[in-house]
Amino acid sequence: MNNRIQKFCDSTMSIIEGWFDRSFTRELNPMYYLGSLTVYLFYIVLVSGVYVFIIYESSIFGAWASLEYMTNELWWSAGLMRSLHRYASDAAIITIFFHMFREFMRDRFRGVRWFSWFSGVPLLWMTVLLGISGYWLVWDTMAQYLAVASSEMMDWLPIFTEPMARNFLTSADMNDRFFTLIAFIHVIGIPIFLIFGIWIHLFRISRTTLNPPRGLAIGTLLALIVMSLIKPAVSHEQANLDIVPVSLNLDWFYLNIFPLADSWSMGAIWALVWGVTAFLMILPWFPPKKQPPVAIVYPEECNGCGQCVDDCPYSAIEMMKREDDSPYDEVAVVDASHCISCGICAGSCPSSTPFRKMDPLITGIDMPHESVHSLRNDTNSKMDKLSDDTRMVIFGCEHAAELERYKDSGTAVITLPCTGMLPASFIDYALRRGNIDGVFITGCVENNCHYRFGNNWLDERIDHERKPALRSRVDRNRVHIFRAESNQQKKLGKEIDQFRSYLGTYDSDSGQKDIDNEVANNE
Ligand code: HEM
Ligand code: SF4
Ligand code: SF4
Repeated sequence: MNNRIQKFCDSTMSIIEGWFDRSFTRELNPMYYLGSLTVYLFYIVLVSGVYVFIIYESSIFGAWASLEYMTNELWWSAGLMRSLHRYASDAAIITIFFHMFREFMRDRFRGVRWFSWFSGVPLLWMTVLLGISGYWLVWDTMAQYLAVASSEMMDWLPIFTEPMARNFLTSADMNDRFFTLIAFIHVIGIPIFLIFGIWIHLFRISRTTLNPPRGLAIGTLLALIVMSLIKPAVSHEQANLDIVPVSLNLDWFYLNIFPLADSWSMGAIWALVWGVTAFLMILPWFPPKKQPPVAIVYPEECNGCGQCVDDCPYSAIEMMKREDDSPYDEVAVVDASHCISCGICAGSCPSSTPFRKMDPLITGIDMPHESVHSLRNDTNSKMDKLSDDTRMVIFGCEHAAELERYKDSGTAVITLPCTGMLPASFIDYALRRGNIDGVFITGCVENNCHYRFGNNWLDERIDHERKPALRSRVDRNRVHIFRAESNQQKKLGKEIDQFRSYLGTYDSDSGQKDIDNEVANNE
């Protein structure tokens, strides 16, 4: 995607997410949990659906009456469950659309991510089909309208030898077998495909967040219950194929395509459906994404610790048995087709420490285009050019607020593909080179890392919760973390200024060691 368009989409999304941040707080912002929120809504749909189905009568004459009974006589139990089933299904369509929109706007659907996008499109249609088949089961005048309209649509395709619409000519043409078939499709057929589809959708993503935070889950359930009590789900009049329904209250989340049948030909409707599907499916390749080269393992530097496997957000690394004469049993191996070139693995590798004297610096795993060796060179040369009394280095990433504008005679700026690529030892290294007063870490904000976990992993390395951790000798008062989105440029500038002023007054001489001794100790 054109860089300027991409920046615009990214900032627009940051603004939208900012609104939600203010209403829901950052921790409970649904925008960061749209995938897991959809899964959660499916749980509600499943539980409420099973409850309703136990009382539901799957026959032409019993279906409508059994639902009426639930709504009117059992409004506090089965009636409530019926409403929950409907509203959770509607909410799932909203979350799926927002999820899709967000991945698109954040440019998280191209390159290696094509797989999740591509496999997401059928999920969207399966959910829509689930909803439509559910409305059939009510067997009210809307179900009648849907049955006739969708049969006419299906009959346009050369699939069935007998026209499907023939089943709905008169009440006498309907039979319970057909009705049971629809119930089977809705209750068993589509859900099985959906579960399998979600499994495929998440296949290449590691550590998937399948549950939204507890507060968001409880809030969502409460909102759905309140809505169900205020405006319970009801049926239209009982279906009667001998009368054409006149006015219907359509569910626009699921049934929006049907009114087109009044003015469009069936061919045009199918062209729209297939056109939208094809467009969505080819979107990851159009416009093509130029992905940098994937991670490379240097077996002679790999000790088989497995940290890169643990940290990789796309399950692109596996540990394999070693065949060479190395003292270690295993070696990391990268699957190029899964690697998104985020560089997080290079930041995870214990060999990626700039204190090593090796030149060029070869690490267990690295990025060919932006190696740890070049990161060390870049850090050294930029720090050496600083001339102000107060000096600092900013490490940030390419996907958050722009950083080059903060570069000056006292500030070196180093931008990485992801802050997760930064080995924590670089912070120690920058401070110990002697001429740096502080290190400022920025990049994608909490819950919104372009590569899913890079920001968390670096924070955890700094807090000694993840290996390779920042050495405890580092004076944490001289390390400041402030993450900022592309629309938070002002806030970031202010924070950098404040940190600079703070460093100007901070006694930075305490506990300093000679860098050369340090290098010798680490070799
Ligand atoms: C039933 C509907 C869907 C469910 C339950 C679902 C669920 C999820 C979940 C849980 C994730 C992982 C989020 C994470 O932990 O980082 C995810 C990722 C993703 N989804 Fe979906 N999704 C659905 C539909 C869709 C659709 C319709 C699309 C787009 C056409 C889509 C595109 C993506 C993409 C591109 C990712 C990967 C994001 C990344 O690599 O960071 N999903 N989805
Ligand atoms: S560059 Fe990123 S996606 Fe590729 S192997 Fe390393 S951590 Fe995994
Ligand atoms: S983190 Fe480095 S040393 Fe550990 S397995 Fe991966 S490449 Fe090998």
